[in-house]
Amino acid sequence: MTTISTRSRRRTGGPGRLLLGGVCAVAIAVSSVAVATSARADLPGPPGATLKAAAERSGRYFGAAMGGDRLNDAGFLAIANREFDMMTAVNEMKPDATEPNRGQFDFRAGDAIYTWATQHGMRVRGHTLAWHAQQPRFWAGLSGSALRTAMIDHINGVMTHYRGKLAYWDVVNEAFAENGSRRSSNLQSTGNDWIEVAFRAARAADPGVKLCYNDYNIENWTYAKTQGVYAMIRDFKARGVPVDCVGLQTHFTGGSSLPGTFQQTLSSFAALGVDVALTEADVTNAAAGQYQGLTQACMNVPRCVGITTWGIRDSDSWRGNESPLLFDRNSNPKPAYTSVLNALNAASTTVPGTSTPPSTPTSTPPSTPPSTPPVTGQPGACTATFRSAGHWDGGYQGEVTVANNGSAVLNGWTVQLTLAGGQTLANVWNGVNTGTSGTVSVRNAAYNGSVGANASTSFGFLVNGSSDAAPGALSCTSP
Ligand code: G3I
Repeated sequence: MTTISTRSRRRTGGPGRLLLGGVCAVAIAVSSVAVATSARADLPGPPGATLKAAAERSGRYFGAAMGGDRLNDAGFLAIANREFDMMTAVNEMKPDATEPNRGQFDFRAGDAIYTWATQHGMRVRGHTLAWHAQQPRFWAGLSGSALRTAMIDHINGVMTHYRGKLAYWDVVNEAFAENGSRRSSNLQSTGNDWIEVAFRAARAADPGVKLCYNDYNIENWTYAKTQGVYAMIRDFKARGVPVDCVGLQTHFTGGSSLPGTFQQTLSSFAALGVDVALTEADVTNAAAGQYQGLTQACMNVPRCVGITTWGIRDSDSWRGNESPLLFDRNSNPKPAYTSVLNALNAASTTVPGTSTPPSTPTSTPPSTPPSTPPVTGQPGACTATFRSAGHWDGGYQGEVTVANNGSAVLNGWTVQLTLAGGQTLANVWNGVNTGTSGTVSVRNAAYNGSVGANASTSFGFLVNGSSDAAPGALSCTSP
């Protein structure tokens, strides 16, 4: 199987090289929709006859990307409505589109896609907030702290508009170079911490949406760029930087193809405690075997939450003359469609936690720091300290710091806390919870159980409920 070489296989923002290798585009119309014969008996209902129905059987989604011009394309909309349950705007939520002039936000194009998608039962992925490309023109005149401030202001402005409405946000897009180091850009020049600053700003602006890092050419586990991104996510999780998911764009196009290590890459990221998703999939000539393989890899990883193709028909693709999508120009599903559908229906894993989406705050979190005093518990070798990181009508975001005040390294920790009556735990990051109401316990995630002497780590959580009373009876134990 071909893997990605050390040279860049594709470029962003332009037509790039088209490596069709003399292979003619496959455009075989499939007149009827085949469904899997190997669907799992332990999953709900009969095999799904559409991409979204098949994906939903294992708690996943199947998404597409659309430009605003497709809102006038009845053929596109018919397939989108029939087959997909997640939508990404191709360009309309990018920085140049949403903040063309400083402080003047324009959400008309993004909102039009959002409204159509949600009116047709879809969820929406936000794409994207901080990127070296498609920046507002005024960013070009800024650098240093002024550009950093403009980035934070942009994140706040856009995320406040969409607060509580989106399922995921690609907070940072394509920040790595092919050799695994950071890509040179004006944002990178503001300081190496620009990515974590973006994520922290994003969490504060909308604590209910999952925050993703998104990139291409990170599908091959042995590739330097994959390892560079992996090291960053591992570091972020260890230090409590709020990242919830990694988007692998999955452009097997322009000559690249599905690497044999793809599932290993997905499971390795997932083991860090993040969701993974295939966010912009397309494959040269829609090779059915590669589409089957990329779908299968996702289905084999419980935290792979869904797949999005970058367009629906070949005529929607940024690489249209590679015929890389699941539907041809006449809207007919290709053989790759059937291979994807069958792989979705044969899934044996259910995505954890997707039945309870992150809480959706209903009002603006306060700009002043919360007044809740810290609560500290002391049993065992560690201590747990709570602080409120924001609250709104119907819930709050909490953070617990687990401190090792002893002289020996902690090898794992468990925090117990008691939620007030009527409160429910909606989402936990950097920890694994047991129970969602009353007394709940949160133990360390796979990557933050080891806490050195006099060091600390933390986990975060969202609580839904009519009161924002802080949790009581905090305690921390270590084996
Ligand atoms: O809207 C103008 C139009 O007025 C003008 O006549 C025309 C002339 O070229 O350009 C139009 O804008 C183009 C825009 O797409 C809308 O079609 C831009 O030039 C073109 O650069 C832009 O390309 C987009 C590209 O991102 C930019 O980086 C593609 O549509 C979009 O599919 C692509 O999406 C990216 C993801 O965001 C990140 N991952 C890679 C992916 C594919 O490159």
